[in-house]
Order: sequence, then structure tokens, then C-alpha cells
Amino acid sequence: MFPLRRNRRLRTNDALRHLVRETLISPNDFLVPLFVVEGKNVKEEIASMPNYFRLSLDLLEAEVKTLWKLGLKSVLLFVKVPDELKDNQGKEALNPNGLMQRAIKTVKNACPDMLVMTDVALDPYSMYGHDGVIENGKIINDTTATVLAEMSLSHAQSGADFVAPSDMMDGRVLTIREILESNGFTDTGIMSYSAKYASSFYGPFRDALDSAPADVQNIPKNKNTYQMDYANRLEAIKETQMDIDEGADIVMVKPGLCYLDIVRDIKEVVDVPVAVYQVSGEYAMLKAAAERGWLNHDAVMLEQVTAIKRAGANIIASYFAKDVAMLLNS
Ligand code: PBG
Repeated sequence: MFPLRRNRRLRTNDALRHLVRETLISPNDFLVPLFVVEGKNVKEEIASMPNYFRLSLDLLEAEVKTLWKLGLKSVLLFVKVPDELKDNQGKEALNPNGLMQRAIKTVKNACPDMLVMTDVALDPYSMYGHDGVIENGKIINDTTATVLAEMSLSHAQSGADFVAPSDMMDGRVLTIREILESNGFTDTGIMSYSAKYASSFYGPFRDALDSAPADVQNIPKNKNTYQMDYANRLEAIKETQMDIDEGADIVMVKPGLCYLDIVRDIKEVVDVPVAVYQVSGEYAMLKAAAERGWLNHDAVMLEQVTAIKRAGANIIASYFAKDVAMLLNS
């Protein structure tokens, strides 16, 4: 008799579709990136990221309370550093009273159970907009790793639960793990940006932090000597495996949507949680298309984050986190 199996039967109605649905999205899946600036009562919209803001510490406090009520329990902090504090070494990154250090304390005071992760990278502090210390037009790997480790220690001392190195220097996870261990921060975790590609999707983020690679003679204007070539797949597995061997608790693939094949490859071979960063350019594309009425914002947003989770993400860092949580709560 034809046909013995009718696949459409399981798609008959909403109740049944929900019953057999394989991938469920909840606020627990998300890590919320937050941009912090100096000042009071500052809420600046990022031009290329509609409805996303840089917040001063007082407004950050209010924001994390709102996020907590929505069920969003983890944040990833980024700071916009004033130009006059930028240099080649990232000195300001180690200031115990720097903006990041105060931001960590602000979040922990406002919301003690909120998980606080910090971006560990030099680019917001670098006068050249690079993730490394530069000498003779080159990014110096080991010097940079040492600064990143000191920066991680400073974040841990300020109360960060996790540090998230986003630079792609070799060996930095081990350098960070060692400094944390030797200073007694055995419980501070490392979420490593393990397979981070040199991507043009980071454009809006660099607007947000004013951190684009500088147009200075002899300094590379892109990050191709440290971030990965987007044509490569095997390399992502090697990078990720090495970060795990060096002590990473969580690994990450970045960007998201164009790299879901990589997410799946990695998910199949690692035994630690895999995070995916749906980056600023991905956010900007949907916001722009929705503004024009070309895409249904909420429907496409849910489809995208579900696809990221279906591919193998255990954690999704996304500028849509709050929008998704509000939608799920409504
Ligand atoms: C900095 C950093 C970047 C992002 C996260 N951390 C930018 C870069 O590497 O140039 C990108 C995030 C985004 O685009 O949303 N090291």
C-alpha cells in the first residue's frame, strides 16, 4: 500500500508540531553582549546597530536588572575606551579602576547572580585598533599574550566569572590559565574565541567601540595575520582543540550564520560547551531588511537563532538576546 509513511502527519497542527520539535529556544541559551561607556545617563544608539546602545554605568545597572527579569542570566561586557587612554600596549586595560573593572563591579552589585564574562582583547585600548602589541608593523604574539593574561587577572580580581579572549594569539589560553591559577583564581573560567574568522561582519561592532584597525603606514589594516581565513575548515578544529588542551572551559565559533558548518564540525569532536557569536553585521543585516519591510523581523530572528542552536551551539552570544527573550515572554 502506498505510502506507508506519511511525514506530513506529524505536521498537522501546532500542538503536534511543538510535541515533535527538536530544537527549543529559551532565554537560558543566551549571552548578552553589552557596550559600556564613561559618563552619566548616557545611552547612545550605535548607528549601524539600530536599537542597540552604549550605556554608562548607571544605565548599565538598570539594564542588567531588566535582563535578569527577562530570564537572561549571562552578559558579555565590552568597553569603549576614550581615545586619550589608548596606546600600543593596552596600559589602560590593566587599570584596576578602569571602565571594564568598574563595569564588572556594577553588574555584580546590581545583580549578584548574573554571570559576568568580559571581552579580553587589546583592540578597544589600542591606538592602532589591533588586538595585539605592534612592533615594526607586526603584531607581536607572545608580548600580547602576556598583556592579555594580566588583563584577565585584573578582570578576575574585579569579580568576572569568565574571561573571554577574542584576539586569536597563539598560546594565550594557556598563558591566561596559568596566571589565573597562580593567583588563586581557580574558579574563573575561560571562554575562548577559538575559531574566530577574519570577517567583514564585524564592521558595526568596530563602529560601536571605535576600534577599526587604523589607517597608519606599515600597520596592517585588517586582522588577517591573526584571525582565521574564512575559507578554512580543518584549521578551526585545530585551533579549537588546542584551546581546549590549554584549558578553555567553553570554546566559540564566530561569526554565526555563515559558519554553521564549522559549528557542527566542532560540536562533533569536542567535549566542552560550544558557543556561537552571532555578530554585529548579522544583527545589522536583519535590522536593515526589517526596517525596509523586506523581512519579518521576529520570524527571521527566531529562525536564525534556532538554526544556530540546531547546528550545535550550546550558548548563543547575540544582540538579539533581549528581543528574543521579550518575544518568548510575551
Ligand atoms: C575584539 C572583538 C571583535 C568582536 C568581538 N570582540 C571585533 C574584531 O575582532 O574586530 C566582534 C563582535 C561583533 O562583530 O559583534 N577583539
